[in-house]
Amino acid sequence: MPRVLMLRDQEPRSQVEELGVDQLPDRSVSVDIDYSDLNYKDALAVTGKGKIVRDYPFVPGIDFAGTVRESHSDRYAPGDKVILTGWGVGERHWGGFAETMNVDAEWLVPCPEALSPRDSMLLGTAGLTAMLSVIRLEQAGLAAGSKVLVTGATGGVGSWAVQMLAQLDYEVHAVTGKADQHAWLKELGASEIVDRSELDGDTRPLEKGLWDGAVDTVGGKVLASVLARMTYQGRVAAVGLAGGTDLPTTVMPFILRGVALLGVDSVMVPFEQRQAAWQRLAALPRDLFTRMHVEEVGLGQAATQAEAMLKGKTRGRVLINPHQD
Ligand SMILES: NC(=O)c1ccc[n+]([C@@H]2O[C@H](COP(=O)([O-])OP(=O)(O)OC[C@H]3O[C@@H](n4cnc5c(N)ncnc54)[C@H](OP(=O)(O)O)[C@@H]3O)[C@@H](O)[C@H]2O)c1
Repeated sequence: MPRVLMLRDQEPRSQVEELGVDQLPDRSVSVDIDYSDLNYKDALAVTGKGKIVRDYPFVPGIDFAGTVRESHSDRYAPGDKVILTGWGVGERHWGGFAETMNVDAEWLVPCPEALSPRDSMLLGTAGLTAMLSVIRLEQAGLAAGSKVLVTGATGGVGSWAVQMLAQLDYEVHAVTGKADQHAWLKELGASEIVDRSELDGDTRPLEKGLWDGAVDTVGGKVLASVLARMTYQGRVAAVGLAGGTDLPTTVMPFILRGVALLGVDSVMVPFEQRQAAWQRLAALPRDLFTRMHVEEVGLGQAATQAEAMLKGKTRGRVLINPHQD
């Protein structure tokens, strides 16, 4: 009888429940889940503060890692270790805040040998997205040694991006609103810390060029400020919207400085690209995992952590252990 976190469009919004296996969706692969994790989108779904979930009752969780229990697909056999991120799971399809879930084989990737299910969820969508951003910047020609800004740096995507870029010998400048986390960001590899207040006000479309590249998880005025402060032909990976969905800028950074705005999407990224990104994630040195700040909670604590995340009070990663209360 798998336990799940069930969301309903009524009070209480979330509740841990036991389901019969016949109540799970009818999909080709059944996975016993070791770990899930909490991303910004999960926080919006669990609290109901974003229009992520439309059909109730609903099991959230955009990521999970675990072991195949039963498979009606040639791609996977019982005992295989697998990872799921994206594809609308935890948005349109029941997700990973569960002890067992049935999903389509096409949504899974094999878990690389070097990663345990826990490690892979320490990365999760956040780590995958950070790596996709790094790859996007590399493909756009950003050279090692360049100065790269990371916004929302203490968040899941931001803190992984800081570590990955520093490990690849970029000079990482980290933007944060958390005055008490500067030392941790330096431990992750940031060489300079920028206070968020320097970037979240109104900006002219072009300011003095300070950075050659950026990973932006915030959007809104912060992204406009970042674009205005790129050096000639700077490259900006636009990843998130923690500070807003608008973009109050003009075409000036693009047509006068040749700045490139590179979109990053982790949800629908094709299988080959995601597998390649997971292989790079699996090759990351161990000390990156030990430096990551992690809070591990059970299903019953997910809603509290989600509230904290939307208030900007979490840092690093929140792991969800579905076997814990
Ligand atoms: N494109 C994709 O495929 C993809 C994938 C994953 C995530 N995302 C998006 O990326 C963003 C970050 O996701 P996450 O899971 O890393 O979330 P997270 O862990 O909550 O991190 C977000 C960080 O942004 C900063 N922040 C929060 N509220 C802010 C505000 N109002 N103004 C400016 N900065 C603010 C905070 O960092 P500091 O306190 O350090 O400033 C916070 O830790 C979200 O918008 C998410 O939806 C997109």
